[in-house]
Amino acid sequence: MKEPEQQQNVLWAGRLEEKPGAEAFAFQASIQVDRRMAAEDITGSRAHAAMLAGQGIIPPETAAALDGELARIGEELAAGTLAVDEGAEDIHSFIEGVLTARLGDAGRTVHAGRSRNDQVAVDLRLYLKTVVPRLRDELADTIQVLLDKAEEHAETIMPGYTHLQRAQPVTLGYHLSAWSCALDRDRGRLADALVRLDECPLGAGALAGSTLPLDREAVAGALGFARPTLNAMDSVADRDFALECAGALSILMVHLSRFCEDIVLWASEEFKFVDLAEAWSTGSSIMPQKKNPDFAELIRGKSGRSIGNLVTLLTLLKGLPYAYNKDLQEDKEALFDSIDTAAACLRMFRGMAASAVFNPRRMKAACAGGFLEATDAAEYLVRKGLPFRRAHEAAALVVRDCVAAGQKAITQRTLAELKTRSALFEADVYAALEPEACAAARKLPGGCAPEEVRRQIRELRRRTETPAG
Ligand code: ARG
Repeated sequence: MKEPEQQQNVLWAGRLEEKPGAEAFAFQASIQVDRRMAAEDITGSRAHAAMLAGQGIIPPETAAALDGELARIGEELAAGTLAVDEGAEDIHSFIEGVLTARLGDAGRTVHAGRSRNDQVAVDLRLYLKTVVPRLRDELADTIQVLLDKAEEHAETIMPGYTHLQRAQPVTLGYHLSAWSCALDRDRGRLADALVRLDECPLGAGALAGSTLPLDREAVAGALGFARPTLNAMDSVADRDFALECAGALSILMVHLSRFCEDIVLWASEEFKFVDLAEAWSTGSSIMPQKKNPDFAELIRGKSGRSIGNLVTLLTLLKGLPYAYNKDLQEDKEALFDSIDTAAACLRMFRGMAASAVFNPRRMKAACAGGFLEATDAAEYLVRKGLPFRRAHEAAALVVRDCVAAGQKAITQRTLAELKTRSALFEADVYAALEPEACAAARKLPGGCAPEEVRRQIRELRRRTETPAG
């Protein structure tokens, strides 16, 4: 970076005669991080300039020149014909610097009634208004992949687990529908965050508003915000919107991490519930036989970044006196990393999940031998009129009888043997205790019966296909 140009881009050169050395200047600069908000910075400046003209603060010709040049800078940056000056302090200084270099005094009018404190706040909110809906779309696409698999496997019996011990027979479709519910809430959380961040901080200035007759309503409307923020000091001190987005993304990443933990287990030789596609696996540099679920592991690992970023943001704000402090510049690196991480992980998870081949035979086999039907035996007796606690005890005694006799399932006992534990057992108990019957009997809303899972799938599809859903 050429020295003179850098000095030109320093917006505060008038006050300080001495400048930080190159290393110190680079230390306090944020251009490498905030350059991704160039388009938003330009959008914000165009709206601000139009408003300044509308209020008679700058002449209409000046506003027209600013608007045209800002648009051109935006196009040139997008086309790559204008390179971001990496020696600039931040994206705001860089763009104002280019504007002034090209327009002279007209360029010098744009910052009237504005501070980089409200400018960076508006840029970040605009950026999130663009990016968060994209993340919601990534989520919707991921949910659709899971629901396609869920539909395919609405009748595929597998063990449901508690304490990682086989608990009750469910279906794979049910398990995948459960995952989809979690991602559906993530979409909702991001939508909620968008509602609250939909206020425009422009006009807040450094912290106290402006003596100029700015029209905050007009600029908020022009930028597509629902309204201007209520209090200028709050506008420049607040990063709740960043926290909310980072929080929602941390929760999302924790969800993906848990799904991936299931997948890593399922891909093991011990479970063999799933065969991951070769293209979504990696080998070992030493062990020739290996096919590792690295993508699932890495997504699980990357959830740590998102949690770390959230903690970074919370820590950043915790001791911060009102209003703006330079500490806040650190917000973007953490938030952007959470956004990039979530977007990449959703895409990778989707590819891995879409190409995964499940093994219904192994899943069904895992339902045998662990007395997963014991709860059903107890509920069978409840249906015949026995109080639940007695039914639970009778079923438990039957399980003990089986274990003592080396039997693997309640249905291996004769009816006469069953009747020694409860006279209410009848011949129809055998059909009721098949794993498929156990799953199919759970028809109530939220249950794992195939037709109920299909209803859940339809509802989740409806939510993700509704534009505002
Ligand atoms: N680069 C700064 C940030 O990201 C912009 C605001 C700087 N304001 C200031 N008074 N130093 O927060």
